Amino acid sequence: MRGIVVFGYLAALVSPLLAVKPEDFKTCSQAAFCNRGRALSARAAASKSPWISPYSINPTSLVFSPSKSSFTAAVKSSLYPEIKFELQVDILRDGVARVRMDQVDGLRKRYDEAASWALLKEPALKEEGQIVWTDQGKTGMKAVYDDVELITLIRSGREEVVLNGRGLLHMEHFRTKTRANHSQEPTPENAWFEGEEEHGFWEETFKSWTDSKPKGPESLSLDIDFPNHPHVYGIPEHAAPLSLPSTTGPDPAYSEPYRLWNLDVYEYESSSSMALYGAIPVLHAHSTKSTVAVFNALASETWVDIHHPTPDKSTATHWIAESGILDLFILPGPTPDAIFEQYARFTGPTALPAHWSLGHHQCRWNYISSDDVRTVSRRFDEEEMPLDVIWLDIEYSQEHKYFIWGQSFPDPVQMANDVAAIGRKMVVIVDPHLKRTSNYPVYAEAQERGLLVKKSDGGEFEGWCWSGSSAWVDFFNPGSWTWWTKLFSLVDDPSAGWRWKDSTDTMFIWNDMNEPSVFNGPEITMVKDNTHYGGWEHRDVHNVNGMLYHNATTNAVMTRTGSPRRPFVLSRSFFAGSQRIGAIWTGDNMGTWEHMAVGIPMTLSVGIAGLTYAGSDVGGFFGNPDVEMLVRWYQVGAFAPFFRAHAHIDTKRREPYLYDDPHKSIMRDILRLRYSLLPVWYTAFREASVRGIPVLRPQYVVFPKDSRGFALDQQYYLGASGLLVKPVTTQGATETEVYLSDDQVYYDYFDSQIYRGGSKSVTVPAPLEKVPLLIRGGSIVPTRARPRRSSPLMKKDPFTLKIALDKTGFAARGELYLDDGETYAHQQGELIWRQFIASKAEKKKVLAIRSVDLVSRAGGEGAVDGITLSAYDRENAFARDIADVTVERIVVLGLESRPKSVKLENGKELQWTFNEGSSAKGKKSGAASLLTIKTRDVYIVEDWSIAVEL
Ligand code: NOJ
Repeated sequence: MRGIVVFGYLAALVSPLLAVKPEDFKTCSQAAFCNRGRALSARAAASKSPWISPYSINPTSLVFSPSKSSFTAAVKSSLYPEIKFELQVDILRDGVARVRMDQVDGLRKRYDEAASWALLKEPALKEEGQIVWTDQGKTGMKAVYDDVELITLIRSGREEVVLNGRGLLHMEHFRTKTRANHSQEPTPENAWFEGEEEHGFWEETFKSWTDSKPKGPESLSLDIDFPNHPHVYGIPEHAAPLSLPSTTGPDPAYSEPYRLWNLDVYEYESSSSMALYGAIPVLHAHSTKSTVAVFNALASETWVDIHHPTPDKSTATHWIAESGILDLFILPGPTPDAIFEQYARFTGPTALPAHWSLGHHQCRWNYISSDDVRTVSRRFDEEEMPLDVIWLDIEYSQEHKYFIWGQSFPDPVQMANDVAAIGRKMVVIVDPHLKRTSNYPVYAEAQERGLLVKKSDGGEFEGWCWSGSSAWVDFFNPGSWTWWTKLFSLVDDPSAGWRWKDSTDTMFIWNDMNEPSVFNGPEITMVKDNTHYGGWEHRDVHNVNGMLYHNATTNAVMTRTGSPRRPFVLSRSFFAGSQRIGAIWTGDNMGTWEHMAVGIPMTLSVGIAGLTYAGSDVGGFFGNPDVEMLVRWYQVGAFAPFFRAHAHIDTKRREPYLYDDPHKSIMRDILRLRYSLLPVWYTAFREASVRGIPVLRPQYVVFPKDSRGFALDQQYYLGASGLLVKPVTTQGATETEVYLSDDQVYYDYFDSQIYRGGSKSVTVPAPLEKVPLLIRGGSIVPTRARPRRSSPLMKKDPFTLKIALDKTGFAARGELYLDDGETYAHQQGELIWRQFIASKAEKKKVLAIRSVDLVSRAGGEGAVDGITLSAYDRENAFARDIADVTVERIVVLGLESRPKSVKLENGKELQWTFNEGSSAKGKKSGAASLLTIKTRDVYIVEDWSIAVEL
């Protein structure tokens, strides 16, 4: 079964002290189009007889492509018979359906480029499709595609995705402002609801701002229902649970729809459907039987209402967007992993990050001088706390003219080189607002080249941000891309104009405020009637804007030395496709337990929407966390893909070395734990970068058939490693409940305590020094145990393999991916990808532990995108470089008895110790038995085999 699309009943087509000021941001009723959209659904719900959508397809207009993978059809609305619309349905690779609808011959063109920014490339049609069209007479029509099994599915009546089943499709047509000669204005007869025409068609105000709306109304609404899916996830970014609670229906958790409109909402609430910094209009619907998803490619302001018509069975959603065409992708699944792969094939998987960027980042607003930076670096060394990156916030720059160093940073290149001496990097902020002063070369050049965002009257847009009166580069203008790239170049070219000479190739970039944040704009962002390249209004493109900035900077950093190296650019704003570019963080959270807790589902939510490289400010951006909270926050951060401590300018310094023991040592241990698990993180990122499977995997993703886990969002799995973590996010906790879905043995990572699962929760001790971390039986976890000052210093360090035997007592598997971590040589096959296997040897009572080359096993496929076995040489340059790196130790958890011998395949005896304990088999709890093998002549790049005779 692959999934179905039903165009149903179509008529249906198819801190207590600090807090956000909610009044600064719109509610749905304050956004005229959202108000109209919600009024429409209220009218449909209140209608005594069944609400029939006024839209219908003219069956005689259907034109199928020869392959039957696509059709177009004319659509009209009975309310506005003169207005023409066209529907196009394409079946693409993997059975993904793309549904587009646009007005035909309208007065203007609707914005139709949102998908093209998100997609890798324009997708091709499936070579052979099977769209079946059934005219259901008056009650509606259905377009169904898929293979034979699908028909069985329809017979059994299971509908997966229903578009317009409630008849809420509504595409406001373009019209002229003068009513007199225009019959298409709403009248009491054809209006969607009473008084429609009063609702901000041509102008609307919010607080002191007036939106001029020169194009008039052009909103789009559609209901997308999942009659057989009780849980929906995604549409980040919201500070909300992973399984999205209702916004309408009886007892909604939130009274406002989920809003997608990238905004700078500092001090945001810890539970809310309010918009935040990024928007990914991707929603997954999940049940024990299947997972499906939609990607609704909209870049304009969008609100999504969610409710569950039949609790525990179905979900109904209603999407209301201000502008744009309908361009909806329906992903058939049927599993969460299949959805991730389908989405990644269209929008691209996560870029494989530089290895060092998975280390620990230390930021604050601000380190105040180059000497301050050197001191911070030295203090981490003195306290033997690993650190990879020191960050500089806006105060490094002269008057917030980014790139231009202020007086306290007289020697930026020397500073970066000093930090880099032990492999550390720096990240320096470059915000998108440019101070409007002619002595700022970046602004002057942008202005001279005509690259700045314009007002509706064509003049330069001026707004306020950190740098005072500012202008913004229009990154929709392709001319800006080459110019922006040149600013970062480390290669001298006197003819090219200004470039950032006081920079080095170990300085990376932070793009903040790119929603964009405009302090004196409506809702702290840009006015909607500004214009961008191509004539589009800001309202049409707003949610993509931040991604384009992120993309331009990332390309610049990647190419600045002449030969491409993996970039690192952190962005606050994001859209669908941002995963191809770089990391994001969850913005200005507060130092509260609630914010610490909600950071987890927020990170999981962007992850399932494709953007897995994410994390929250450790410690909380605002406020001064007490040391207990800080320790717990480090535990959360150490298990987030992006791990950065950050703090507001008004907070006390809180670098972990400033604390007394035991807290200082606890934090040191957490940092070291992160570093010891870097092989796991990097291996998980490889999989994300090839298959699109998120690095952090929520419970429903790993156990998609166990409904008891569908709403769990405080525990999650780290890649395919078998590590299950549940960071503590409540004050004073000494233990926590962890849900174990399968009938499998789990081991405490630290003391090897055994827990036995099977649809039940177990209590795991969680004193302050301990993050609850379990290894699922059947896993082999590669670690590197030597503490180092930074991750590049670990390059030649030996490995320890932790083998957690499964409940048979004789099986486990794990993976390790490695490459140089910095260049793109892996795309030419310079990598190692190993599989470790523990299994029962043919001879009874022998546990064979082997390492095999996974690239050859997988036929080259999946090592990195596009690598084939013929392009891969096991003795590639990277493998040669680490040829002397050993596996120094193997730890086996859960053996049933003391071994008789442990030998290499050549018969050589190895040293080992054995601690008696519980076996993986059976029912006993307590600490597992522990076999520690001290290995010799075992190399990470080689095949080897060890026999443990019992
Ligand atoms: C807002 C960002 O969210 C925050 O992280 C940063 O410190 C400040 N801007 C100052 O740049």
